[in-house]
Amino acid sequence: MQYSIDSIDLIKQTSDCLIVSTFQGKRLSQSAQLLDKHSQGYIHKILDKGDLIEECGKSILLYNVPGISASRVLLVYCGEESNLSVIDFRKIISCMACALKALQIDEITSFLTDISMKACDLDKQIRQSIELIEDCFYCFDELKTDKKNKISLPKRFIFNFPNSRESTKATETIKQATAITHGIKLTKDLANLPANLCTPSIMAEQAKKLANDTGLTINILDEAAIKKEGMGGLLAVTQGSEAPVKFVILEYQGALGQQPVVLVGKGVTFDSGGICLKPAAGMEEMKYDMSGAASVMGILKVIAELKLPIHVVGIMPLTENLPSGTAVKPGDVIKTLSGLNVEVINTDAEGRLILADALTYSERFNPDVVIDMATLTGAIIVALGAVATGMMSNSMELALEIEKAGQQSQDRVWPLPLWDEYQPQIDSNVADISNVGMGGGKSITAACFLSRFTKKLNWAHLDIAGTAWKSGPEKTATGRPVSLIVQFLLNRCKNKK
Ligand code: BES
Ligand code: MN
Ligand code: ZN
Repeated sequence: MQYSIDSIDLIKQTSDCLIVSTFQGKRLSQSAQLLDKHSQGYIHKILDKGDLIEECGKSILLYNVPGISASRVLLVYCGEESNLSVIDFRKIISCMACALKALQIDEITSFLTDISMKACDLDKQIRQSIELIEDCFYCFDELKTDKKNKISLPKRFIFNFPNSRESTKATETIKQATAITHGIKLTKDLANLPANLCTPSIMAEQAKKLANDTGLTINILDEAAIKKEGMGGLLAVTQGSEAPVKFVILEYQGALGQQPVVLVGKGVTFDSGGICLKPAAGMEEMKYDMSGAASVMGILKVIAELKLPIHVVGIMPLTENLPSGTAVKPGDVIKTLSGLNVEVINTDAEGRLILADALTYSERFNPDVVIDMATLTGAIIVALGAVATGMMSNSMELALEIEKAGQQSQDRVWPLPLWDEYQPQIDSNVADISNVGMGGGKSITAACFLSRFTKKLNWAHLDIAGTAWKSGPEKTATGRPVSLIVQFLLNRCKNKK
């Protein structure tokens, strides 16, 4: 969809649908008041009927409102204006988008820009709106042969913007938000693909295509090169699979001489658990175990499209985790790229093995910071559910920087401790460390494992197992944490100027 801002005459505007807000106690917004006046009190008459449920985001659709040119008006209940939270606002926008989805319309004009909130300025409202609308309209139907029921989506969305003084900033925000939705779409499309159509080789091909389309440089290591490097963690995970392993490095150079931000994404295209096989129920969702890698691609797409003045490297270890006669076995000891020997107690704790090598590899870029994103532990879902991404870091400063970007983008994180007291859980009496923690705090001990490979780095780990996709019959990728990391990078660009 095409987004724009304009200063609109509500009465003369011929859009297919106008969006207008009302508040608690039948209070009308500025535009609703104007509408009411021009329609001889039509809006108040409707509200007096009591059909509009007083719950944020509930709406009624009005046809042929007297005295105006537009054919439809969506009247949206927006709560208590003076006390509206960002969460309420997001709910309002999502509900509005869902209500619009069912209509046969091309152009929408929104007067929700009337809403003034303490917690969320107009720019932030526009960014949130665009992301939420695109999320609502997203549909993964590549694999449906019958596209009969495909709904045609609106083409243009205009934000009414009476104050032209700030319109350049808003235009910039639209550009940024639109680029972010392009990245999110790429991440979702890749993550939603089933594992037979999204092997490590296919992911590497997609990375190549992204590089060609956007001018990123790319380097793809195959099994021989990975062996030569000595990435024993990645090799151990891949040895039970027939699909060739890949290790992909993408680089965006938008600021010469700047130490890069390195983004590492877990790319397990299917995680069966290996010899420590997972239960069958729900195992299909382990096609999403490459969401970290898909996010790295989505983020790089956004920053290349926006031509941000920043240096970013993306690293994606790509493999399947399968059981077979050649698979790694519980008790096997492997040598990682760092030289550390790991006792593989549980073959289902594979993500940390491939990340260990990728994190060690990241050192050669002399990075300013390294952030890994990984669907690493089921335990993070127990702790934080689907709301916050779990964050663990060896740098308080970096953690705060990411936390702030989370608040700004509403793609939020929550910190968990990485205290030394957790470290003995991964001791091994055979090798240097074990790949699982013996005790509680499984998300933390997973991060402890990673921390053994990031001693020289300014590093944060994002456990996105609860946030990268929505579970159940309506399962779908969310595109998180693309918005968060792009915000983090945007902030860095701003601060370095
Ligand atoms: N990919 C999984 C984590 C996961 C599980 C994500 C469920 C989303 C839903 C990861 O590779 C894994 O299997 N982790 C194990 C670690 C355990 C063996 C220490 C887990 O969380 O059970
Ligand atoms: Mn696993
Ligand atoms: Zn996994």
